[in-house]
Amino acid sequence: MCGHRRTGHDMFEILEELPPDPILGVTAAFKRDTSPDKVDLGVGVYRDEEGGTPVPKAVVEAERQLIASQTTKSYVGPVGNVEFNERIVALALGPLASKLASRTATIQSVGGCGALRLGAELVRSSKPDALIHVSDPTWANHEPLIGSAGVKLERYPYFDPARQAVAFDKMHDYLGRLPAGAVVLLHACCHNPTGADLSEEQWLALAETFERRGLVPFVDMAYQGFGDDLETDARGLRMLAERVPELLLALSCSKNFGLYKERVGALAIVAKDAKTAAAIATHERRQARRMYSMPPDHGAAIASRILADVSLRKSWIDEVASMVARMKSLRVLLASKLAERMPERDWNWLNQQRGMFSLLGLTDVSIQRLRDEHHVYVPPDGRMNVAGISDQNVDYVADAVTALLK
Ligand SMILES: Cc1ncc(COP(=O)(O)O)c(C=O)c1O
Repeated sequence: MCGHRRTGHDMFEILEELPPDPILGVTAAFKRDTSPDKVDLGVGVYRDEEGGTPVPKAVVEAERQLIASQTTKSYVGPVGNVEFNERIVALALGPLASKLASRTATIQSVGGCGALRLGAELVRSSKPDALIHVSDPTWANHEPLIGSAGVKLERYPYFDPARQAVAFDKMHDYLGRLPAGAVVLLHACCHNPTGADLSEEQWLALAETFERRGLVPFVDMAYQGFGDDLETDARGLRMLAERVPELLLALSCSKNFGLYKERVGALAIVAKDAKTAAAIATHERRQARRMYSMPPDHGAAIASRILADVSLRKSWIDEVASMVARMKSLRVLLASKLAERMPERDWNWLNQQRGMFSLLGLTDVSIQRLRDEHHVYVPPDGRMNVAGISDQNVDYVADAVTALLK
């Protein structure tokens, strides 16, 4: 108490302290740990061999150019940086972007999270009783982020832990029975947290079902370029966009551009015709204005410059490719270290999965012990950030994981 008289009407008195965020809390706990052995496989940021998350060279150069040429910090408006919006959608949709341009309403967002939330707000305002179907499991922030917009959520089958792969028949069967107009959140690539992605044939089958059944895909593409490459990772999204009349797309530049804290993303909604897209654009802008008015410009201006400049773009694509190569080689390395210790198990799934994440397949108790006894930090769902592995810690991590599996 600081001497104020209690009136019984204190507004915030009823608020109780919340438990830590499932993912961000891991970083805080890791920082508090004083063990020299500690390993952070928690929050989803790319790490290099030294454990750092570097600023890509193209970002450094684009930022330098931007600062040198900037003449004003005046407002950009709720839709954000229009050139960025066009370029980032073109990166995602490829040649389809210009074909769909008149039917697409894009707004810059506060990271991929902002795009997901804006999308959910618009779904709810056009269909107050809408249900959004999310994969089981999904990224720990999807449900709070989308659910807080007031939409109801349901989970569809996605992952088969025994095979460490997509339970495609179950997924397809479930989605194939949803009523027309049902909204389905899909991870475009690098599924978070499982790392298990759909094959090209599975995407095609899904896209045909979405078209036939009138389902609405809400595609979350937070890791374009982190699976195989920028084009391959967008394959499934493009198959859907080619076929369905309506689609929501949440884009993020956090991981592939390394622009995490600049908070850069976009929401693109493809509508059935140009008139509807124009109306959607007004709703996107109104929703942004009501929630935060306008997105920050700095990071979007950087990404936009990189996408438009031939040499910056090439430098950036090369750097993304080297990050992917590192993640793939870490998967091979970890799989081989685990196989040395437990040859009776198949570890090849680690090489088949894509992106930064995989589920370790540990029980809740083992996940806690991994942290308490071995100082290896993963979120409560057991999701490992592969990029947190290095030549220095891989034996230590493999020892810890296999000790808990034996
Ligand atoms: C699946 C998924 N979607 C969206 C995001 C959004 O990221 P951000 O808001 O940082 O751009 C993330 C970030 O971790 C993610 O993993």
